[in-house]
Amino acid sequence: MKKLELVYEGKAKKVYKTDDPDLLIVDYKDDATAFNGEKRGIISGKGSVNNRMTNHFMRLLAAAGIPNHYVEELSDRETLVKRVTIFPLEVIIRNIAAGSFSKRYGLKEGTVFRKPTLEFSYKNDALGDPLINASHIFAMNLAVPEELALIREYSFKINDLLKSTLMECGITLVDFKLEFGKAPDGTIILADEISPDTCRFWDTKTGEKLDKDRFRQDLGNVEGAYQEMARRLLG
Ligand code: TMP
Repeated sequence: MKKLELVYEGKAKKVYKTDDPDLLIVDYKDDATAFNGEKRGIISGKGSVNNRMTNHFMRLLAAAGIPNHYVEELSDRETLVKRVTIFPLEVIIRNIAAGSFSKRYGLKEGTVFRKPTLEFSYKNDALGDPLINASHIFAMNLAVPEELALIREYSFKINDLLKSTLMECGITLVDFKLEFGKAPDGTIILADEISPDTCRFWDTKTGEKLDKDRFRQDLGNVEGAYQEMARRLLG
């Protein structure tokens, strides 16, 4: 598979065309940002951890019936994926209160929810990815009800699968963000990444944070946390 021109560069990944119009190559960077790009840094080794961890989860989810964009891991940092049109939505699932939820509702970080929650953000950096509800999504024609229903169903199922896999590694899945896309044939598939950049992972025994909150909150040993997650999950 030939790596052709760069089609998109985001905060943490680069995306390249290939000689197959239906396939793209994702290249994970060590660059880290937080607070909508206000805080910037490098987390050495992050690209490799996020690439390999995402692929591990994507293979597991595909085997469990969640269609996704993963095709083949090409290197430590590069993966071949299916080209999709991304819905401009971030789907956030939470099991435990943290981050913006704790802030918004004044709920202590660590409060365990009676049931997992789901919320959507509108992917728009200029607006700071604001919260959006289903009726807004339909009004703006960002997705139709059948699509959103499937996205919800997949997201809760992904939560169950990730939670149980991580539990076996001594990790509590606090919350995470997903992105979905539409393939050229119209099917809805999971895309983007599932990594310490996009999830909150807490050590079940000690409560230690093993995710990007170490960078966001200047907790130190950021690289160590990414490496520890890779070790636990990938061996
Ligand atoms: P939040 O508590 O800041 O809303 O974050 C919820 C989850 O979503 C958390 O696991 C981190 C992830 N996330 C992203 O992947 N990208 C983002 O831009 C933000 C704000 C959060």
